[in-house]
Amino acid sequence: MNYTFNITKVEKSAIHEFDFDNIPFGKVFADHMFMADYIDGQWTNLTIQPMAPISTHPANMAWHYGQAIFEGMKASRDAEGNAFIFRPEMHAQRFNKSAFRMNMPQMPEDLFMQAVHTLVSMEKEWIPKQEGSAMYIRPFMYATDHSIGIKVSNTYRFIILVLPVGPYYNHPVKLLAQDKYIRAVVGGVGEAKAAGNYAAAMYPTTLAKEAGFDQVVWLDGVEKKYIQEVGTMNIFFVINNEILTPALDGAILDGITRNSLITLFKDQGYKVTERRITIDEVMEAGKNGNLTEIFGSGTAAVVAPVSTLQHNEEIVELDTNNRPISLWAYETINGMRNRTIEDKFGWLSPAK
Ligand code: COI
Repeated sequence: MNYTFNITKVEKSAIHEFDFDNIPFGKVFADHMFMADYIDGQWTNLTIQPMAPISTHPANMAWHYGQAIFEGMKASRDAEGNAFIFRPEMHAQRFNKSAFRMNMPQMPEDLFMQAVHTLVSMEKEWIPKQEGSAMYIRPFMYATDHSIGIKVSNTYRFIILVLPVGPYYNHPVKLLAQDKYIRAVVGGVGEAKAAGNYAAAMYPTTLAKEAGFDQVVWLDGVEKKYIQEVGTMNIFFVINNEILTPALDGAILDGITRNSLITLFKDQGYKVTERRITIDEVMEAGKNGNLTEIFGSGTAAVVAPVSTLQHNEEIVELDTNNRPISLWAYETINGMRNRTIEDKFGWLSPAK
């Protein structure tokens, strides 16, 4: 189906005020956003409008009871300036899985795709060409009934923001595995990209940051033994030349970069295993020298090398100047995005 969007353009673009040589992550937005409302069982008010604050009723249910989900994907440009979006259909599908789990309405995949494509095409001059930079695309949905009292909202708003971003991490990441706080349990909402998952991670992450780490590596909520993910990214280990990543169990985000890396590694002939991985075996492999790389994967983080992992009193330090596997993965994903490496799996969707 072809949807009609009501488009209002800014009088003057802010792009000339933006410093493409100093691109922060998440602070500066392109000129326009997409917006739609879910009312009486239909998506309506489909608009592209100038990026600006919106007013919300103080009893807006998302603020009180947390029905709020989001996605994160990226667009890039080739040397000729053509814009491409990385695996948008996977993000549309994951968005709807999150919506289902949070008892929110489905967003028709064709509407999601048309909105993303139209907005990215309109804003393609905002896509940075600098190494490690991209346009970040943030679709999100939240409950909009105003009501005090817990119930499923009948109305929702869907918005897409687009913003030029630099690297999420500009240094190797230091991780803390701790046993006190948990992120998710099987049967909970860990695999949904629900806003509350990120809220729940804030306090333990603040404690980890105060102790000199960048992030927490989450352990399973029952035995506090099995590694799940980092919260800002999925996690991979290279032990005895085998690439390991925790198997998806419902408590871990089904990362699209994770999925892409597994495909790329297998295609390159690496042994890749998705299974339950204990923190003890990783620390042990670190001690005996069999652990050669740890890295995170995510839309924002891309492929982020880990320099330090601490669990209780044990610390593993890794030489991030010697990380052939994660460096290859980073360069391959980035090369595909800027079209200097063949898009062998058809992951890039030309913005239209
Ligand atoms: C992403 O990688 O897109 C995320 O949503 C994670 C967040 C740290 C920005």
